[in-house]
Amino acid sequence: MAQIPEQVRNQYEQLKDELNRHNHSYYVLDEPSIPDSEYDRGMRRLQDLEQQYPQLLSPDSPSQRVGGAPLPTFSQVAHDVPMLSLDNAFNKEELQDFDRRISERLNIKDGEQIEYVCEPKLDGVAVSLLYHDGLLVRGATRGDGKVGEDITANVRTIRSIPLKLSGDGIPELLEVRGEIYLPRAGFEKINAAAIAQGDKTFVNPRNAAAGSLRQLDSKITASRPLEMCAYSVGQFKGAVTPDTHLHMLGLLGDWGFKINRYVELAGGVSACESYYEQMQERRDQLPYDIDGIVYKVNDLRLQQRLGFVAKAPRWAIARKFPAQEEMTQLLDVEFQVGRTGAITPVARLAPVFVGGVTVSNATLHNGDEIARLGICIGDTVIIRRAGDVIPQVAAVVKDKRPAEARPIVFPEACPVCQSPVRRLEGEAVARCSGGLFCGAQNKEAIKHFASRKAMDIDGLGDKLVELLVDKGLIYSVADLYELSAEKIAGLERMGEKSAQNLIDSIAASKQTSLAKFLFALGIREVGEATGQTLARNFGSLEAIIDADLETLQEVDDIGPVVAYHIRDFLRNPDNLAIVHALREAGVTWDDIDLSAENSQPLKGQTWVLTGAMDVMSRAEAKDKLQALGAKVAGSVSAKTTQLVAGPGAGSKLTKAQSLDIPVMNEEQFIAFLQGV
Ligand code: IVH
Repeated sequence: MAQIPEQVRNQYEQLKDELNRHNHSYYVLDEPSIPDSEYDRGMRRLQDLEQQYPQLLSPDSPSQRVGGAPLPTFSQVAHDVPMLSLDNAFNKEELQDFDRRISERLNIKDGEQIEYVCEPKLDGVAVSLLYHDGLLVRGATRGDGKVGEDITANVRTIRSIPLKLSGDGIPELLEVRGEIYLPRAGFEKINAAAIAQGDKTFVNPRNAAAGSLRQLDSKITASRPLEMCAYSVGQFKGAVTPDTHLHMLGLLGDWGFKINRYVELAGGVSACESYYEQMQERRDQLPYDIDGIVYKVNDLRLQQRLGFVAKAPRWAIARKFPAQEEMTQLLDVEFQVGRTGAITPVARLAPVFVGGVTVSNATLHNGDEIARLGICIGDTVIIRRAGDVIPQVAAVVKDKRPAEARPIVFPEACPVCQSPVRRLEGEAVARCSGGLFCGAQNKEAIKHFASRKAMDIDGLGDKLVELLVDKGLIYSVADLYELSAEKIAGLERMGEKSAQNLIDSIAASKQTSLAKFLFALGIREVGEATGQTLARNFGSLEAIIDADLETLQEVDDIGPVVAYHIRDFLRNPDNLAIVHALREAGVTWDDIDLSAENSQPLKGQTWVLTGAMDVMSRAEAKDKLQALGAKVAGSVSAKTTQLVAGPGAGSKLTKAQSLDIPVMNEEQFIAFLQGV
């Protein structure tokens, strides 16, 4: 075996520490310290050294996070200190009872408050991690609390779990406990991949985390974006123990663990209650699921005095949030027709309270989803509503299928206009082929035309469009400009004043921009950004109508599909007649002087906007940047040219700073725009 030169060993150790530090910044602190490309280069260098000198390889090397050879089975692990569970409090009174019981047991005088640490109750899988002299030696599941399974190979792949502790005062023996969980975005990603492969999906992030940890092949675990937060200590030997739970969490954080950022100290039970309410409001916006709050007595000596009952400590309790999954019955399926004719099956459900709201509808997306779920009308289903996403049918409880359950038949004719339904090869969506002849598509097209980012007709909401069409007052968007206050004044809830206001805003919408007009037409695949790209590159509507497929595709960001839809729409005589009628009615915009536009001073640049803006709206800032040729991206990366950060900017600002990307505030941004 090749002798390792001292210099190589030093270089290796240094590189390993550096990579572990960057890993910690990225996965524990959420503050990337170097660009990904730089990290990858370091990792390759480390792997080269390990290949050349295999004796160098140590278990705390960041190269060991990719997973190893599959195991035949999981071996069992006995927990030296049992892993307990928590009692639950289902309401305010039960939490008050908990506080009262503690005060009585500890003989706390009336009026004196107990200090509690409040923590989000992460919805994942409990884990025990054992460290000897700061090195991770074992990871285990909770199992029945006494005996769990050895999942060391799997936990090693989780980037927020330190393989080696850093910092001072590290105990000889440390057993850390915490929750391994899957952020919602990771859950969506895994399920999307499962759908693409025709595999079964996971019902929720907790099941997906559990399934990912149960893999005998740690390479599979490595491919799942799992995270871990530490929340307590099982064993602690050979160092000074802190006095409080909060201090203990602080130490764990110093040694390299991720600690949930919302952990807070509360003096007394009413502060605990406000924390609960505050977190309940925040719950939907968090990037991961939480199912409640855990309250823990902060003073560790008091915790010891309180001790345990059966399987739960007396010093802690979980206060649950409303469940994010509930069972209900699928009563029927209706098929809705959208603006582009897309037919969406919508599940009509027996109303159920889930994730804090009553849900009676859920989308079933498309025919493939119906087949994948194997769902029938009459079935009992699990509805999941978490975060801001629309409620989903997460699974079907097949053993509860009633005898009278009937299959869902996807319609062959449009339920609104009876035109044939077509599904293009390779597309998941089936569409009504009726175009604007279809009443549903026509109404949706008018709603889109009037919407804020399109023609921006103030006061013309969805309900009113439906009413105008149903009463025969308009048929196409062009008819809007023929309306008069007298014609509409008699409609439901439409007084003379509001009738006149509506007519005024219809008139005001006539002065628009080419980009908005193109977007308003509702051409498939032409969103706001494509509308702008087209306007900027062609300057006038005539030039776009005249452009052939090749000319359209010469423009950046316009591919063959988008080009096809633009041409298809603008060569259709019915559509052209509407465009003509709109211009006749006075809809107008300033054509763009291409010689000036082409100079696009920010072409090739990528800008990111974050935080609040006072003077200019975010949309306006985006429009201006795009008009100058810049791309406006949603996240900061090494490719970002400039970040505009307003008050309240968070992780994007930190990331930009760590990547040395220039940052300006709104005032500087406005000054900059005036200068270009
Ligand atoms: S403390 C003895 N803190 O909730 C105390 N548990 O039954 C043990 N959990 O399976 C748990 N977040 O995995 C604690 N901040 C938190 C937690 C938490 C989630 C889980 C834990 C356990 C279950 C409680």
